[in-house]
Amino acid sequence: MHTDRPVTQWFKGAVPRKQPGLRVFLMVLLGAGVLSATALAAAQQGAKAPDAPATPPGHAEFVGSDTCATCHAEVAKSFATNPHTKMALMHGNANGVTCENCHGAGSEHVAGGGDVTKIFDPAKASVKDVDTKCLSCHAGAHPNFDRSPHAKANVGCTSCHSIHGSKEEALLKASQPTLCFQCHADQKAQFGMPFHHPVNEGTVKCSDCHDVHGTFQNSNLKSTADQSMICTKCHTDVRGPFVYEHAPVKAEGCLACHSPHGSQNARMLNMPNVNVLCNQCHSAVASGTIHGQGQGSSDSVPCTSCHTYIHGSNMNAAFLR
Ligand code: HEC
Ligand code: HEC
Ligand code: HEC
Ligand code: HEC
Ligand code: HEC
Ligand code: HEC
Ligand code: HEC
Ligand code: HEC
Ligand code: HEC
Ligand code: HEC
Repeated sequence: MHTDRPVTQWFKGAVPRKQPGLRVFLMVLLGAGVLSATALAAAQQGAKAPDAPATPPGHAEFVGSDTCATCHAEVAKSFATNPHTKMALMHGNANGVTCENCHGAGSEHVAGGGDVTKIFDPAKASVKDVDTKCLSCHAGAHPNFDRSPHAKANVGCTSCHSIHGSKEEALLKASQPTLCFQCHADQKAQFGMPFHHPVNEGTVKCSDCHDVHGTFQNSNLKSTADQSMICTKCHTDVRGPFVYEHAPVKAEGCLACHSPHGSQNARMLNMPNVNVLCNQCHSAVASGTIHGQGQGSSDSVPCTSCHTYIHGSNMNAAFLR
C-alpha cells in the first residue's frame, strides 16, 4: 500500500500548508532541475541513439555494416562521413548496426545474394512507414511532425532529406530556399517582389521563421511565448518595451501592417499608401481638428513624417519626433 504513495503526496506532506510561496519556489526549483537535466541530455544526444535492436525470432538476423559493405562498397564508403555514423560511434563502434537501423535486419537479404524483397527499402516504402522509421529516433527533436501541414499533405522526411545523396547541411536534398520553392511557387513570387526579406540573397532563411517539422502555431511558424518574437529576435529596436506603446504592435502583431515575405510597398507594408494603412484604424481621429488642414487624407504628407516612432516611443505619447 505505502509503496503506491505518489510523489505529490510526499511533496504536500513535506511542505507546510500555509506557505504556498515556498511550495511554488520548490516546484520551480524542481522543475528547473528536471528541465536542465533534460536539456543536457538532449544537447548531448541530439537524436536518440538506439540500443542494438533485438532480433525477432524466426526472422532475419543482424549481420553488421561490414557485411553490407562487401556488396555495397560505394554506399558504405560515403557513409563514413554521414552524421548517422555518429550512432555507431556512440556505441563504441561495437554493434555495427548502422545500416540495419534503417534497412532492417539483413541476413536473409544477404543469403539471397541481395534479394530486394528481404530488405526495407525506403525509396519503395510508403511515406508513413519511412516517417515512422525516422521518428523512432528523431521524435525527441521533432515531436510535432505528425500534426504538421507537411505530414498531413504526405510530404515526408525523404521529400526534403536524402540520406545517401545529400551534399547540403542537414542532409537536405537542396539548400534553402531552392528546396522550398520546388513546391511553394506562390512564396517564390513573394520573395521576388521589389521589397522582400533577403531570402534569395541568403541573409535570412525560411527556417528562421518556420519550423517545417511542425509547431503549435499556424503556418508552421516557430513557437515562441510572444509571437512577435519571431520578428523581434532580429529587429530588436522595435521590440520595446516602450513607455508609450503603439497598441497594435503588441495586440495584432507585426502582420497588422507588414507582409512577412515580400511586398510591392516600401518597408514591406501591407498597403501602398501609409495614410490609408493608418486610417484603417484612425480615420476619425486623423481627420479631426487636431491635424488642421486635412492632414488625415491619403494625399497629404505621410502620417509617419510626424509620427516617426511608429512602433512606440519613450518620449512622446503620439510617437512624434
Ligand atoms: C551478397 C551481396 C549483398 C550484401 C552482403 C548486401 N546486399 Fe544489399 N543488395 C545486393 C544486391 C545485388 C541488390 C540489388 C541491387 C540492384 O537491384 O541494383 C541489393 C539491394 C539493396 C537495397 C535496395 C533494395 C531495392 O529495393 O532495390 C538495399 C536498401 C540494400 N541492398 C541494403 C543492404 C544492407 C543494409 C545490407 C547489409 C545488411 C546489404 N544490402 C547487404 C547485394 C547485397
Ligand atoms: C538513417 C537511415 C539510413 C541508414 C542508416 C542507411 N540508409 Fe540506406 N537508405 C536510406 C534511405 C532513406 C534510402 C532511400 C533513398 C534515399 O532517400 O536516399 C536508402 C537507400 C539505400 C540503398 C538503395 C540504393 C540507393 O542508393 O538508393 C542502398 C543499397 C542502401 N541504402 C544501403 C545502405 C547501407 C549499405 C547502409 C550502411 C552503410 C545504409 N544504407 C544506411 C536510409 C538509410
Ligand atoms: C519540408 C521539408 C522537410 C521535411 C518534410 C522534413 N525536414 Fe528535416 N529539415 C528540413 C530543413 C530545411 C532543415 C534545416 C533547418 C532546420 O533545422 O529547421 C531540417 C533539419 C533536420 C534535422 C537536423 C536539425 C534538427 O532540427 O534536428 C533533422 C534531424 C531532421 N531535419 C529530421 C527530419 C525528420 C526525421 C523528418 C521526418 C519526420 C524531417 N526532417 C522532415 C526540412 C524538412
Ligand atoms: C537509429 C536511429 C536513427 C534513425 C532510424 C534515423 N536517424 Fe537520423 N540521426 C540519428 C543520429 C544519432 C544522428 C546524429 C546525431 C544528431 O546530429 O542528432 C542523426 C542525424 C540526422 C540528421 C542531421 C544531420 C545533420 O547534419 O545535422 C538528419 C537530417 C537525419 N538524421 C534525418 C533522418 C531521416 C530522414 C531518417 C529516416 C530515413 C533518419 N534520420 C533515421 C539517428 C537516427
Ligand atoms: C521573416 C519571417 C519569414 C520568413 C523568412 C519566411 N516566412 Fe513564410 N510566413 C511567415 C509568416 C509570419 C507567415 C504567416 C502569414 C499569415 O498568417 O498571414 C508565413 C506564411 C507562410 C506560408 C503559408 C501561406 C502564406 O503565404 O501565408 C507558407 C507556405 C510559407 N510561409 C512559406 C515560406 C517559405 C517557403 C519561405 C522561404 C522561401 C518562408 N516562408 C520564409 C514568416 C516568414
Ligand atoms: C515536396 C514538396 C514540398 C517541399 C519541398 C516543401 N513543402 Fe512546404 N508544404 C508542402 C505542402 C503540400 C504543404 C501543405 C499544403 C499547403 O498548405 O500548401 C506545405 C505546407 C507548408 C507550410 C504551411 C502552410 C500553411 O498554410 O499552413 C509552410 C510554412 C511550408 N510548407 C514551408 C516550407 C518550407 C520553409 C520549405 C523548405 C524548407 C518547404 N515548405 C518545403 C509541400 C512542400
Ligand atoms: C533572421 C532575421 C530576421 C527575422 C526573423 C525577421 N527579419 Fe525582417 N529583416 C531582416 C533583414 C536582414 C532585413 C533587410 C534589412 C536591410 O535590407 O537593410 C529585414 C527587413 C525587414 C523590413 C524592411 C526594412 C526596411 O528598412 O525596408 C521589415 C518591415 C521587416 N524586416 C519586418 C519583419 C517582420 C514583420 C518579421 C516577422 C514576421 C521579420 N522582419 C523577421 C531580418 C529579419
Ligand atoms: C501599426 C502599423 C505597424 C505595426 C503593427 C508594425 N509596424 Fe513596422 N513599420 C510601420 C511603418 C508605417 C513603417 C515605415 C516607417 C517609415 O517609413 O518611416 C514601419 C517600418 C518598419 C521597419 C523599417 C525600419 C524602421 O524601424 O523604420 C521595420 C524593420 C519594421 N517596421 C518592423 C516591424 C516589426 C518587427 C513589427 C512587429 C514587432 C512591426 N514593424 C509592427 C508600421 C507598423
Ligand atoms: C490595426 C489598427 C491600427 C493601425 C493600422 C494603426 N494604429 Fe495607431 N493606434 C491603434 C490603437 C488601438 C491605438 C491606441 C488608441 C488608444 O489608446 O486610444 C493607437 C494609437 C496611436 C497613436 C497614439 C494615440 C494617442 O491617443 O496618444 C498614434 C499617434 C497613432 N496610433 C498613429 C498611427 C499611425 C500614424 C498609423 C499608421 C502608420 C497607425 N497609428 C496605424 C491602432 C492602429
Ligand atoms: C504635420 C504633422 C502630422 C501629420 C502629418 C499627422 N499627424 Fe497625427 N498628430 C500630430 C500632432 C502634433 C498630434 C498631437 C499630439 C499631441 O497631442 O501631443 C497628433 C495626434 C494624433 C493622434 C492622437 C489623437 C488624440 O486624440 O490624442 C493620432 C491617432 C494621430 N495623430 C494619427 C494620425 C494619422 C493616422 C495621420 C495620417 C493620416 C496623422 N496623424 C498625420 C501631427 C501630425
